[in-house]
Amino acid sequence: MKTLKITLAAMIALGLMVSFAFAAGNVEKGKALFNNTKLGKTGMACNTCHSGGKMLAAAATDKNLPATINRMITTKLKGKAIKGAELANLEAYVKSIAGGQKTGAAAPAPKKRRAIEGC
Ligand code: HEC
Repeated sequence: MKTLKITLAAMIALGLMVSFAFAAGNVEKGKALFNNTKLGKTGMACNTCHSGGKMLAAAATDKNLPATINRMITTKLKGKAIKGAELANLEAYVKSIAGGQKTGAAAPAPKKRRAIEGC
């Protein structure tokens, strides 16, 4: 009986994860945006500063990641905020590399961090 309950719980958890993965946007399309130097006017892409997931550790727990992403676009890239599916795709990709990144020498310790607000 206990095993059955555990199995059921695991299946429900897995189902939720899968549905989140689908609802959360397209990682491949997000990757293209992350590397897109045309998102803004500086000639840089997200990847210019965040190659290999650098400085993205906070993204894994960021409760307002879409707002952070648009803050990056408008302040760092001098571009226009994105929305809808585009934003969801970029968010999905950022999450995918934020979780799996290596920490340590490559990632400089965050100094003062501004409060994260919507733009
Ligand atoms: C010019 C360099 C630069 C560029 C380009 C850049 N970032 Fe950042 N990013 C930073 C720095 C520095 C920080 C840490 C300080 C801060 O949060 O402002 C950061 C922090 C972040 C964080 C973590 C903050 C948090 O709390 O979640 C995310 C996520 C992020 N950037 C996403 C992006 C995305 C997506 C793009 C492309 C649209 C991008 N960044 C472009 C320099 C950059």
